[in-house]
Amino acid sequence: MARILITSALPYINGVKHLGNLAGSMLPADVFARFQRLAGHEVLAICATDEHGTPAELAAAEAGQDVRAYCDEQHEIQKGLGAQFGLSWDHFGRTSNPENAELTQHFAETLEKRGLISEVIEEQVYSVDDQRFLPDRYVEGTCPNCGYEKARGDQCDNCGKLLDPTDLKDPYSAVSGSRNLEVRETRHLQLRQTVMEPRIRAWVDAAKDWPQLAKSIAYKWLDEGLRDRTITRDLKWGVKVTKDGKPREGFEDKVFYVWFDAPIGYIAATVEWAKAHNQDWQRWWRTDKGANDVTYVQFMGKDNVAFHTVSFPATILGSEEPWKPVDKLKAFNWLNWYGGKFSTSQKRGVFMNHALELAPADYWRWYLTSQAPEGSDSQFTWEHFQGVVNKDLADVLGNFVNRILRFGNSRFEGQIPDGGIPGDDEAWLYKEVEERLANIAKLYDAMEFRKAAAETRALWAAGNEYLTRAEPWAHFKTDQDRAALGVRVGVNLIRLFAIVAQPIIPFSSAAIMKSLGLEGHAVSWPTGSGEEILSVLQPGHGFTPPDVLFKKIEDEDVTQWSERFGGAQN
Ligand code: MF3
Ligand code: ZN
Repeated sequence: MARILITSALPYINGVKHLGNLAGSMLPADVFARFQRLAGHEVLAICATDEHGTPAELAAAEAGQDVRAYCDEQHEIQKGLGAQFGLSWDHFGRTSNPENAELTQHFAETLEKRGLISEVIEEQVYSVDDQRFLPDRYVEGTCPNCGYEKARGDQCDNCGKLLDPTDLKDPYSAVSGSRNLEVRETRHLQLRQTVMEPRIRAWVDAAKDWPQLAKSIAYKWLDEGLRDRTITRDLKWGVKVTKDGKPREGFEDKVFYVWFDAPIGYIAATVEWAKAHNQDWQRWWRTDKGANDVTYVQFMGKDNVAFHTVSFPATILGSEEPWKPVDKLKAFNWLNWYGGKFSTSQKRGVFMNHALELAPADYWRWYLTSQAPEGSDSQFTWEHFQGVVNKDLADVLGNFVNRILRFGNSRFEGQIPDGGIPGDDEAWLYKEVEERLANIAKLYDAMEFRKAAAETRALWAAGNEYLTRAEPWAHFKTDQDRAALGVRVGVNLIRLFAIVAQPIIPFSSAAIMKSLGLEGHAVSWPTGSGEEILSVLQPGHGFTPPDVLFKKIEDEDVTQWSERFGGAQN
């Protein structure tokens, strides 16, 4: 049994997340956590809302709410949606909680003691009319790289380039629209990443278990040369800047930059979890307190990789304290929406709350996992969603469950029948089951989610193939024992399918287990020979056919949804 710490990139608090966010971090982290629990490992799955920075302040202002009240409300909304999507976090915390402030201040003070933080005077955009500095997204203007006119001070949404507010041409205040801006000097803290560079590079060199995408992004940053990074901002909302535990002089109106405190939130959310459940967080995060035998796996979209392979490591390695760094890092490409990107700021695409109004969580979970944007970006269309769900879930899995349980119900009184001697068809099936199960487990360990889903589907398909060969319905009149064998094996296959599908479609898995009278039974990843696995449920075991497991998505649904949410016309 291994200990596995799993985190997914912390979703911004600024509104309900879209399916791209779900597909590229929270969902695969959950599928992985569920698999590893089934496999018998001790898993801790942590997530939280990322509540600081200009996105939070601006979203609160747009909603006409006080930022703390806004965050309180949005945190509950995101937490609720996570539960409705079956995201089985052990804890869903908040970066605005005191645990995170304390740790963030601890890291900054420690880094300063190590000579890795310096005070600098910086030039920042100041709005005369708003009487304030305009960090990050508080300034908008024309991108110096591509000419896009609504680029934000931290990044251009059009070309993706990371920017500094002073880089923008024709800048204006995002608060008031005022162009009466000047550049003024202000005092800030800088993290001396230039000093850290050789240590970070050595650490990346030594990372064995990172996929190509993550490594190449890390090297791209290292090869361009790290720059010292300003880790404070002229904002009110955020973690206060301290020195020796007291407010730091000259920094009374400043807070830490959101990307400095957010990843520390992984640790802080674990502290929250530990307090809530009377557990020890240090055995997950401190290598001097037992965390050296933890495998730490992070999930994120590709835009987050540099922050997790360079910036956050600079914080924890720079502290020279025994923190547990990431072992495996799984990064995702984009899920695209009709050729463009899903976008929170432009409200483009389908968001988690709307998705649940249209179809059950498992439809989305199956679609987004089996079509995960792993090797490259993937394209969402309504027709594709319909096709995948109807074919895989309704035709392959749902159909199998229905055929067997209905037949078994009408011909064998809803109980697993005795009789029949396994022959060639069963021998073929046992082998299929053994091979596919081994493959699926291997693919999950390698975090190859598309392939794991494809192999899961292949296992279901093998079940259908077995039925085609064994034909219990054809044999019922002439050879009842043979029909009985087919049903007995079939019901056991259903149990197997439900367990194996659990990481991806937990709600359907539970519904199937219920129809087998196994509701709430502890399950684990099936081991042993195919024969053993397919004879767990013995003659006499009762079952009831479920109501429709997977209702098909109709063409009218697709038409309606395209009208409501847009699609091709965008
Ligand atoms: N909120 C960020 C985003 O959505 C991710 C933060 S990940 C963390 O892109 F590690 F910093 F928390
Ligand atoms: Zn641009």
